[in-house]
Amino acid sequence: MCGIVAAVAARNIVPVLIEGLTRLEYRGYDSAGLALLKPTLTRLRSVGRVAELALQANGQTAHHGIAHTRWATHGVPSERNAHPHVSAGLAVVHNGIIENYVELRRELLAAGYVFTSDTDTEVIAHLIQHTLQSAPDLFAAVRLAIARLTGAYAIAVLREGDDGIVVARHGAPLLLGLGTDGNYAASDAAALLQVTRRMIYLEDGDVAEIRGDAVRIVGAGGTAARVPADRPVHESTLSADDVELGDYRHYMQKEIFEQPQALAATLEMIGGAQTLSPNLFGVAAPEMLSGVRSVLILACGTSYHSGLVARYWIEQLAGIPCSVEIASEYRYRVSVPNPEQLVVAISQSGETADTLASVKHARALGMGRTLAICNVPESAIVRECALRFLTRAGPEIGVASTKAFTTQLAALFLLAVTLAKQAGRLSAEQEAEHLAALRHLPVAVQKVLALEPEIKAWAARFADKQHALFLGRGHHYPIALEGALKLKEISYIHAEGYPAGELKHGPLALVDKDMPVISIAPNDALLEKLKSNLKEVAARGGELYVFADADSAVDAEDGVHVLRLPEHYGLLSPVLHVVPLQLLSYHVALVKGTDVDKPRNLAKSVTVE
Ligand code: M6R
Repeated sequence: MCGIVAAVAARNIVPVLIEGLTRLEYRGYDSAGLALLKPTLTRLRSVGRVAELALQANGQTAHHGIAHTRWATHGVPSERNAHPHVSAGLAVVHNGIIENYVELRRELLAAGYVFTSDTDTEVIAHLIQHTLQSAPDLFAAVRLAIARLTGAYAIAVLREGDDGIVVARHGAPLLLGLGTDGNYAASDAAALLQVTRRMIYLEDGDVAEIRGDAVRIVGAGGTAARVPADRPVHESTLSADDVELGDYRHYMQKEIFEQPQALAATLEMIGGAQTLSPNLFGVAAPEMLSGVRSVLILACGTSYHSGLVARYWIEQLAGIPCSVEIASEYRYRVSVPNPEQLVVAISQSGETADTLASVKHARALGMGRTLAICNVPESAIVRECALRFLTRAGPEIGVASTKAFTTQLAALFLLAVTLAKQAGRLSAEQEAEHLAALRHLPVAVQKVLALEPEIKAWAARFADKQHALFLGRGHHYPIALEGALKLKEISYIHAEGYPAGELKHGPLALVDKDMPVISIAPNDALLEKLKSNLKEVAARGGELYVFADADSAVDAEDGVHVLRLPEHYGLLSPVLHVVPLQLLSYHVALVKGTDVDKPRNLAKSVTVE
């Protein structure tokens, strides 16, 4: 979490910093700040959004500056805790957590430094200042200081009298942007598209200096990293449209409606093929996937839900056991390692600290067959895994994950089919049928999106509710979980997802006229069972909102509202059924007037534990 931008350029960099922060606001939006050299240090900070900071910065000019948008960890969101933090003419912005900040703070207090915030970041500023007493320059001081830090960080440091800005990363993302009139650094490429497409992804342990006319990088071992031999220059393929809102009101809305294109782009690599090659998952995949006898999926949040759907597919199609674990639980529990197991990490951002740590943990336990399913190339999770499948959803900016989820499902279905094929459980006809169904998904999702007006009408009835239940069965149970997560995340209505058969074991006690019950009712083998569960709700006066298929034998009646999806979609039905739930949450949030793209207390990339 938190976003960093740094710039040293011939142009006025203040608008660049503000625009960069605006692009990074998805990473945190509790407060924002910047430090400029003019040539003495000028610091501006504000609580709340970047727009507030932009008002303060209006009219400022500078050629050196660092900027930050914060997601609070240590210390409440307030101006005194907003970055940059300073120590006598030196300013620091930081993304991450310094775990040993208490000891360092004690030591620095004893040395006479005065702290004015509750953050861990201020320790870095004073530590670098202190180290400067015995270091030849800022670059050397940063290298010596970070050697004393425990935890994850990306930092940018500037100091009065210095021509460059020094940046460093360890466990949090940071890249350099090479411009024609200067050089830049940021937490992600979207922040720098305004000035350059030429990016260098820093590696863990790198310390770099950006100056107006050059950059230099020293790797973890202390040797200079050569550009481009050691740190290649990537030409970003992101287009400005990818990160613009266009005619949409919110990014979440845009991203929901982008799902047909996102799915088509993700599936582009299978083209018109009738058969799949394991190479889809990387050059080492044929060897690594062969002989896989079980799968362990690790993920958080929405990505965890896509893993839960995949478990149904993998066990049904490939006939091999699949377990799905919340990454933050797996990494700390004593588990039984299985070196033959395929470990699949699912992440939109590729940065989620818990997911990354869980993969490292699995590897440390001897499980080397690792596959990342991820939306961000060059991200930490992609680099950590031996194999990769990149979803091509494009940048997902709304905090609520939508198109990342459906593209993850497409990738996971490809994995299930690949494993089924390797297990000898799929005929050529069955494989071709699955691929045809996948290819038809963008069209099928487009038809579901056309239900928006009816869903919008339903949404109005939820706005005054405090709670909601989501029910599903089989591979739609994870979709119920996902629907509940979407609703609570952006509309702040307490919602729970349940397997419908579990209702009578407790949650039925909650059902009354004030508890809307949303049910996913595809026309599959479990429909009759589900209908019995719905009767249990209706008999207790519960108001039912049913998302059925065109041919599901479920009828609207008093207290039972039914909306029909255009077609039943077999195994891939969860990809379709999640879409109306995304739209429902979106429209409930609109009615409630919440901040759809930046819900309270959350951030998009969760790079802290
Ligand atoms: O980037 P990731 O997919 O690893 O993120 C995992 C979760 O933080 C994320 O899915 C979160 O639950 C979403 N905000 C849900 O909409």
